[in-house]
Amino acid sequence: MRRKVAAVAAVLAVAGCGVSAPPSDATGEQIYRNLCANCHGANLEGRVGPALGPGSNAAAQPDSFIETTVLHGRGGMPSFRSVLDDDQVQRLIGYLREVQGE
Ligand code: HEC
Repeated sequence: MRRKVAAVAAVLAVAGCGVSAPPSDATGEQIYRNLCANCHGANLEGRVGPALGPGSNAAAQPDSFIETTVLHGRGGMPSFRSVLDDDQVQRLIGYLREVQGE
């Protein structure tokens, strides 16, 4: 039991000091910076998590892959289902596509 609490705390710490929901009108870029940049890099270049920018695997995947990853988590990545609403997820994907296309 104790061990489980510690594991959850560790995940939250890595994700960046407590995951809080961004404002409902936050742009995709703001959402990325708040929730994703810690692990994927300020410029999508990758850190703990893989690169998401131009030429990455994520750039070659359909929107549904990114959506599923964000909502359900993947491997060492936490789920953001309880943090982001549908519109925010779509804005976030829009931001990734914008940077990938640069
Ligand atoms: C706690 C660190 C962490 C955070 C925060 C995080 N990720 Fe990840 N992400 C990972 C890791 C680690 C993987 C690799 C998972 C695996 O395949 O085992 C990953 C994988 C991914 C992938 C799949 C990449 C691929 O090529 O397979 C996408 C897309 C992604 N993350 C997007 C995001 C987005 C968007 C956010 C912000 C909402 C986010 N991640 C937040 C750690 C994180």
